[in-house]
Amino acid sequence: MSEPLVCVSDYERQARRVLPKAVFDYYCSGADEQETLADNTAAYSRWRLLPRVLRDVSRMDLSASVLGQPISMPVCVGATAMQRMAHPEGETATARGPCRVCLCFPACRAAGTGMMLSSWATSTIEEVRSSAGEGLLWMQLYIYKDRDLTLSLVRRAEEAGYKAIFVTVDTPYLGKRRDDVRNRFKLPSHLRMSNFASADLAFSSEEGYGEDSGLAVYVSQAIDPTLCWEHIAWLKAHTHLPVVVKGVLSAEDALQAVQFGVDGILVSNHGARQLDGVPATLEVLEEVVAAVAGRCEVYLDGGVRRGTDVLKALALGATAVFLGRPILWGLACQGEQGVTDVLELLRDELHLAMALAGCRSVGEVSRSMVRRAQFSSRM
Ligand SMILES: Cc1cc2nc3c(=O)[nH]c(=O)nc-3n(C[C@H](O)[C@H](O)[C@H](O)COP(=O)(O)O)c2cc1C
Repeated sequence: MSEPLVCVSDYERQARRVLPKAVFDYYCSGADEQETLADNTAAYSRWRLLPRVLRDVSRMDLSASVLGQPISMPVCVGATAMQRMAHPEGETATARGPCRVCLCFPACRAAGTGMMLSSWATSTIEEVRSSAGEGLLWMQLYIYKDRDLTLSLVRRAEEAGYKAIFVTVDTPYLGKRRDDVRNRFKLPSHLRMSNFASADLAFSSEEGYGEDSGLAVYVSQAIDPTLCWEHIAWLKAHTHLPVVVKGVLSAEDALQAVQFGVDGILVSNHGARQLDGVPATLEVLEEVVAAVAGRCEVYLDGGVRRGTDVLKALALGATAVFLGRPILWGLACQGEQGVTDVLELLRDELHLAMALAGCRSVGEVSRSMVRRAQFSSRM
């Protein structure tokens, strides 16, 4: 009998067993020495929760909202590329996995939350929409050297009823993920980045990608390294959808983002896959939130693995958090059911953490509920 999967790290362990090594490595890796990768999760242990007691937590409400769209919990599915390497149905399963409490609803909708689709998905924008039904979807956008191509992704997302554009601003070049270089990482030959017509843009060039990480070569060929703040203004001028910048880590950039009129900021270090040595996202969240001072919503991703992690991020000012790898682990283990189960797991953990901390709703979570852990020099 297989062991029950009771926490996100159980799913990760199981995913490692079932995925081909090069695929697991691609999903799992951070950049360079992976210092930030370790810190993204470790940061949560540097904060302690201060519960309130005697507050009647028999009725709980985990609901929240992102850009005016209601979600039943402040935990959402982040953008991760090329999900058909994890499961044959890839992104369409992520968007559709049946919920434990109601077998006929799509995963993210039944768990009552939203999904961000990667530009580099192995399913099209339209396939994911039809799989998600009425579910809440957002589009993650890379800005390509080819501006018309970039805008065609935006148009398709608009037409398919996606509710916001999350433009990734931390990837003028791809971070160096050593295992991907060692593995000469590329997509298996039966897969492609489905939103693009030509083999070159679909990351399925027959000429191959030489001795490097294929994805690093792809990015240097296709993605625009001249990206700067004026491109945010350009994007806003070309879409009626809200624009969120994904990849801000400093108060200074958060202020710039506000000045350029963004609708939201996603505090992210790309799951520690870009610049190694940057702080854990949890460590910079509070200063970003303070700089923004309520002028737009602030979200966080990176290292969220437990309900208590979510609670700490909310206490430090996040409106909602996004999950990257945990969703891939669920997808690899059990397809759509695995995605649902991971979301349910996080919901149950958050529910319990909030109840034990004396918070009946997300609105009751406050800064006073967390303090830095005091480490003793004695062991
Ligand atoms: C395998 C993988 C693929 C990713 N693909 C994308 C992508 O296509 N676009 C993007 O903006 N971010 C991408 N990210 C970053 C995630 O959106 C997110 O920032 C990160 O995974 C959050 O950290 P976590 O994995 O610790 O939850 C990817 C991350 C992983 C692990």
